[in-house]
Amino acid sequence: MKLQQRSVLAAALALAGAPSVDAVLRFSCSELVTERLDPLVFPGAAQSPHLHQIVGGNMFNVTMDPERYNIGEEASCTTCTFSEDFSNYWTATLFFRARNGSYIRVPQRPNIDFDNARGGGMTVYYTASYQGAKVTAFQPGFRMIVGSPMYRTSAEAAKFRQLTFTCLETMYTRTGETTSMPTQPCKEGIMANVRFPTCWDGANLDTPNHSDHVAYPSSGTFESGGPCPASHPVPIPQLFYEVIWDTRQFNDRSLWPEDGSQPFVWSYGDYTGYGTHGDYVFGWKGDSLQRAMDDNCDVVCPTLKTQSIGTGNQCTQDKKVAEQIDGWLESLPGDVEVTGPQPGAGSGGNPGNGGGSNPGDGGGNNGGGSCQVSKWGQCGGQGWSGCTSCASGSTCRAQNNYYSQCL
Ligand SMILES: *[C@@H]1O[C@H](CO)[C@@H](O)[C@H](O)[C@H]1NC(C)=O
Ligand SMILES: *[C@@H]1O[C@H](CO)[C@@H](O)[C@H](O)[C@H]1NC(C)=O
Ligand SMILES: *[C@@H]1O[C@H](CO)[C@@H](O)[C@H](O)[C@H]1NC(C)=O
Repeated sequence: MKLQQRSVLAAALALAGAPSVDAVLRFSCSELVTERLDPLVFPGAAQSPHLHQIVGGNMFNVTMDPERYNIGEEASCTTCTFSEDFSNYWTATLFFRARNGSYIRVPQRPNIDFDNARGGGMTVYYTASYQGAKVTAFQPGFRMIVGSPMYRTSAEAAKFRQLTFTCLETMYTRTGETTSMPTQPCKEGIMANVRFPTCWDGANLDTPNHSDHVAYPSSGTFESGGPCPASHPVPIPQLFYEVIWDTRQFNDRSLWPEDGSQPFVWSYGDYTGYGTHGDYVFGWKGDSLQRAMDDNCDVVCPTLKTQSIGTGNQCTQDKKVAEQIDGWLESLPGDVEVTGPQPGAGSGGNPGNGGGSNPGDGGGNNGGGSCQVSKWGQCGGQGWSGCTSCASGSTCRAQNNYYSQCL
């Protein structure tokens, strides 16, 4: 068992050019809930624009006040197998679009070693360092986002490193990562790989776009021990999600668009995959994550409390957003519009009014514009389909430096 896990890790890490497989905390988190909520970008909004699959602790909510620092103490259950981890992790969800234009949600499947994780969930890794260096664990109140659902081009996506897809020929395939969606059927599914930046500014638990307080190494890579930039001097663990989309029932090419292009579209309206993104709200109890990092833990971590996948599966949340997300749908949940290149439409896409437009690479996206507030994604700020506003009868009010709410 241990050997098999080691070999999986070795395979996963060989790709990253890692010299050692020590200190890679790896664990399973089952689905907590799948719904249109986004307490980071759209706090207070039930519903957020696009659908997310969320795993982790049961403090997940429509609003998660950044000044309420005690998620790790207040939560009462988690879907993760390290049972002191009440963090929340989420990504967008994937849909299959049939030739007749209807959509159906692509299920997820559990990773190797994590059979029976409810809803497939995700595999979470925290890597302290491949070079034996000390890292500072995330602090209570910390949150961050990597990637942008507005991106549709490789040029835009290049701003982020290591947001990729693996076309699973077998469940063990760990090579051939691409930054856009696989274009051919993938026998065992498509794995989305979401790796976060590994340097922190040491001061801010969050920033208005939830990204500026973290950065990539100034040279080299995290894996090669590249130094953090002066602006973000504090090395933090590398947070990494693996999410496996079970495309097996959709692999028959006769179901794919007539032009042979791939039929999967993300819940935020993207066929390219360049808009892939992941969200994180820290919620480990006490100093448990720091201890695990200091102890160079991997799948086995005596300093941490664990629970079985079956126990984690018992932690659930009722949906707060009542809407149909399964079965054949006429449009993506939230009536999300598909932007950028579309199957059968040839090259090009909707030209953006702010972003650049590389021929054959799809259109750009709104670059910012003249929204009421500068905070990206907050009410009154820029959303991925333009400026956001509150429903009539409510007004957008700043709650603190980080978020605003329609009240
Ligand atoms: C979510 O927020 C609502 C409104 O503040 C609150 O009543 C509810 O208890 C919260 N749920 C959880 C699981 O914290
Ligand atoms: C669209 O196509 C799918 C897959 O062939 C089929 O199951 C579904 O019933 C169709 N929907 C409509 C509205 O025709
Ligand atoms: C966040 O916003 C700043 C402007 O405040 C911008 O320079 C930066 O590129 C943004 N970061 C991401 C990851 O979008």
